[in-house]
Amino acid sequence: MKAVFFEMQGSLDNLQVGDFPEPTMKPDECLIRVHAAALNGFEPMMIIGGTSLKTPLPMIPCGDVAGEVIEIGKDVPSGQWNIGDRVIINPYSDKGMMGETVRGGACEYVSTNHQQLIRIPDGVSYADAACTIIAYGTAHRMIGSRGQVCSTDTVLVLGATGGVGVAAVQFAKRAGAKVIACGSSDWKVEKLKEIGADAVIDTNTTDFYEWIKDNYGKPTVFGTGGVNVVINYIGGETWVKSLRCLGKGGRLLTCGATAGYAPATDIRFIWSYELAILGSDGWDENGPAEILDMMAAGELKPVIHATCPLADAPAMLKLQYDRKIFGKVVFTPVENS
Ligand SMILES: NC(=O)c1ccc[n+]([C@@H]2O[C@H](COP(=O)([O-])OP(=O)(O)OC[C@H]3O[C@@H](n4cnc5c(N)ncnc54)[C@H](OP(=O)(O)O)[C@@H]3O)[C@@H](O)[C@H]2O)c1
Repeated sequence: MKAVFFEMQGSLDNLQVGDFPEPTMKPDECLIRVHAAALNGFEPMMIIGGTSLKTPLPMIPCGDVAGEVIEIGKDVPSGQWNIGDRVIINPYSDKGMMGETVRGGACEYVSTNHQQLIRIPDGVSYADAACTIIAYGTAHRMIGSRGQVCSTDTVLVLGATGGVGVAAVQFAKRAGAKVIACGSSDWKVEKLKEIGADAVIDTNTTDFYEWIKDNYGKPTVFGTGGVNVVINYIGGETWVKSLRCLGKGGRLLTCGATAGYAPATDIRFIWSYELAILGSDGWDENGPAEILDMMAAGELKPVIHATCPLADAPAMLKLQYDRKIFGKVVFTPVENS
């Protein structure tokens, strides 16, 4: 089959597009013809290496997969799945995450345990469905069950232009919150306005803490100033600054550390302003199905920067690494998916 893969970590140049052995289907698995596979922020990190995860090689990127059941293993309970069913795959199993420790979906066929399949409702395209789990599912949990973001909140989203960030803006707006969204270039902040951000900060030209101080006031222990919620999956040198943006009783929500997982901190802000730091990992159990239903009802449209063939994967991974993507990139191994 055609696949995108890397046999060695160390550089994005190690990514190849070519022939790869088809997966062998186990009796409790279904074979899926991949119609769409979405890229996530962790994919360039896996190819470059340096994370604590041990990636078995060769590895196929793309943890998010949407496709069609084309073969059913003999131990899959009868009637549960049928040939032609449209599905997405829950990418996380006891073997780890697809694209990290289990081969991903940037290829023509994936074989997976039937319990990992989730049905795509009518009216949702494969490309949209492929965006459901890792970015949208994570943002949905962070904004929803973990962060409890609501209509009285003012939410500052750092790195709002990536997969999780764009989804966080959409879900926070859906919850009725006021959203201030950060992006690192003028074209990206224009797009943030288009998806409903109430205010934007171009971090290439403006310091986000200074902007919050100028527009919302410096937080005080008496309860004035600052915002209620900051979403920070960047880490690094943004960490302390984002604590400083929070008003009394504010919540900092995090699900990642793109720019560094062990930043300096300043505990004074945490106690003085009684801040809560809330971690969020992965998605709610029913999150993917809820998100697919929102898409089917026309209440949510994933933001897709580009839909392209597997051959474009090396160029797209470089664009993602260079922060030149807004939202998601989706590969379509089958033409006209
Ligand atoms: N825990 C979980 O379950 C979970 C699930 C999904 C993702 N995550 C984590 O969440 C983070 C975002 O994932 P994603 O898929 O949304 O990634 P993405 O699509 O690549 O977006 C990352 C965004 O972060 C911004 N950014 C700011 N500083 C950056 C830096 N130093 N390097 C790179 N980007 C920087 C970029 O926007 P600007 O250039 O506009 O600032 C970029 O658009 C990652 O750390 C990922 O590992 C965690």
